[in-house]
Amino acid sequence: MTARYEDLHAQSLADPTGFWADAARAVDWAVPPSTILDDSAKPFYRWFTDGRLNMCWNAVDRHVAAGRGDQAALIHDSPVTGTKRTITYADLLDQVSRFGGVLRDAGVAKGDRVIIYMPMVPEAAVAMLACARIGAIHSVVFGGFAPHELATRINDAQPKVIVSASCGIEGSRVIAYKPMLDAAIEHASHKPSRCILFQRPQQIATLLPGRDVVWDAAMADAAPVECEMVEATHPLYILYTSGTTGQPKGVVRDTGGYAVALKWTMDHFYGIRPGEVFWTASDVGWVVGHSYIVYGPLLQGCTSVVYEGKPVGTPDAGAFWRVIAEHKAVALFTAPTAFRAIKREDPQGTKIKDYDLSSLRVLFLAGERSDPDTLQWAESNLQVPVIDHWWQTETGWPIAGNPMGLGLFPVKYGSTAKPLPGWDIRVLAADGQPVRAGDIGAIVARLPLPPGTLPTLWNADDRFVKSYLADYPGYYQTSDAGFIDSDGYIFVMARTDDIINVAGHRLSTGAMEEVLSGHPDVAECAVIGVADSLKGQLPFGLIVLKNGVTRSHAEIIADVIAKVRDEIGPVAAFKQAIVVDRLPKTRSGKILRGTMQKIADSEQWRMPATIDDPIILEEIKAAFREAGYAQLPQNEQKLPAGQAN
Ligand code: COA
Ligand code: AMP
Repeated sequence: MTARYEDLHAQSLADPTGFWADAARAVDWAVPPSTILDDSAKPFYRWFTDGRLNMCWNAVDRHVAAGRGDQAALIHDSPVTGTKRTITYADLLDQVSRFGGVLRDAGVAKGDRVIIYMPMVPEAAVAMLACARIGAIHSVVFGGFAPHELATRINDAQPKVIVSASCGIEGSRVIAYKPMLDAAIEHASHKPSRCILFQRPQQIATLLPGRDVVWDAAMADAAPVECEMVEATHPLYILYTSGTTGQPKGVVRDTGGYAVALKWTMDHFYGIRPGEVFWTASDVGWVVGHSYIVYGPLLQGCTSVVYEGKPVGTPDAGAFWRVIAEHKAVALFTAPTAFRAIKREDPQGTKIKDYDLSSLRVLFLAGERSDPDTLQWAESNLQVPVIDHWWQTETGWPIAGNPMGLGLFPVKYGSTAKPLPGWDIRVLAADGQPVRAGDIGAIVARLPLPPGTLPTLWNADDRFVKSYLADYPGYYQTSDAGFIDSDGYIFVMARTDDIINVAGHRLSTGAMEEVLSGHPDVAECAVIGVADSLKGQLPFGLIVLKNGVTRSHAEIIADVIAKVRDEIGPVAAFKQAIVVDRLPKTRSGKILRGTMQKIADSEQWRMPATIDDPIILEEIKAAFREAGYAQLPQNEQKLPAGQAN
């Protein structure tokens, strides 16, 4: 079976235009593309430039036209509210057509931006699809981000309208969204002209007259609208993701390339057939939610489960098994951290036996490195293939994985298997030369990237080139380090930048440092990611106080923790910080974050030859020990002069 993969992969690299022209036939076009790849403005590439289509048509209307109107499109399963709701494709068509009318009435036209700041309710998907229907560009902001982060995105995207909800529910806590929305708009220099509020019974929000309208009332008055066909290169959405600074990167997604790539993956990578139930336990605020809660499954005519709950505590570690059994999901896609949470509460997997999981064919894991223990636990308890696949917000769909739809090849634990068709993956040394099989280096993808991947960053072409294309000319730099073994299997080991991965969520330590530095008592600081058995990594702050500060360390630490929660949001999970006298640096002043992280995690580390004062590392190690880290004996090696980690 793997021969099929090998053929397709080889074909996709030898003849990308032929390969993707074939794939594009699975999508409905108003005007089929005659130009498949436009490389006239290298290093910017565009796919299907003269094609015209509409994403909402492909995800909704076409299925109703083909007789799927009565099939469930979305199932909202919400243990936190004790409700379940099924929305058929016909219902969805009605809702997106009318919500498109609501947006048009609010003055939204093709190309205008709409920010969506919502919990896991189907209305979030309706809002996204309605934007796509009228050619508006949506930007979904994850609900766990604080008003300051929302304000940054409002200023960058300049939305005409914001769609939000009165509240979200986190376990048993009702989280009021409206005050956060109001605070964000107050902070932002750009003001939306209209906010559309989905009122939830758990908490009714107070409206600001003249600006706010209620979802239901607006829908009742709205006239349905038809799909507006757009150029394949027209942006479908902007999704902000952490960069190395506090200014997030606005990843742009085109319409045509994305539709083609997602449809291809549903068939050939995930191996899901139309009509089947596909469940991605993530959030619409993340790329995984965009691609595989909303667009991918709907393009494929599947039923997608919109789950508003956690893997544990809603009510217990059997929650995932209940959802699979009840809705007969054929596939579950989530982050390894969710399985670590389940395993911690139910190590023997006893709750699995309470449910009929015979519908389940496969489990997909992504978002962070899958530790072999967790993967094997899932395999042995669920008795289905467990597929670790690697991708990024920027890529929109998997770069590498074991292709369920093409026939699996043998699993190598710790590897995300082989590159998908369209991806020419190499590992390069710092000088740009390829490394030998098995040697670690920067993982890069040869240009052009396949369809559906980011064509640029919103209003930031220069930043796009500088962040991704400048260091290794001719390649896209993933900012992941790893190796490819002699069988062609990819092992993704770590980020090469200041990004950490907390419970499958991508966070910038640089952004946290900016918040800490803003505290009046803090002279300088560093934030590193330390290993955590549940969330993979957790942020850990080290702060040096200004001379003459007399407040207690405990007070200042409590302040900086609250400050990160207020300014970035609870999702940052920033709960640990220590005060130190000084930070270890190289002679040129670079803080040795990598070395500190290795010391905290009790990993082998190397004394950088360029360190300014080695004694400081001893002080830092002692401080980590006191905080419960750096408990195991470690080896130290001297690095060749000039290198620092
Ligand atoms: N709105 C408001 N707050 C939110 C939120 C949202 N949408 N999502 C998370 N938060 C809050 C949480 O309540 C928590 O707050 P707390 O510090 O007051 O407890 C904080 O942000 C951190 O959230 P999280 O890291 O998700 O931790 P958790 O303890 O609530 O749950 C897991 C841990 C592992 C169960 C959960 O992260 C999980 O299921 N992850 C796997 C699925 C996933 O989300 N993958 C994403 C990419 S595929
Ligand atoms: P995000 O943009 O939030 O999807 O995060 C992307 C980053 O998560 C990648 O650059 C990797 O560092 C990490 N990541 C995602 N999936 C995997 C995986 N399967 N294995 C290892 N790391 C992963």
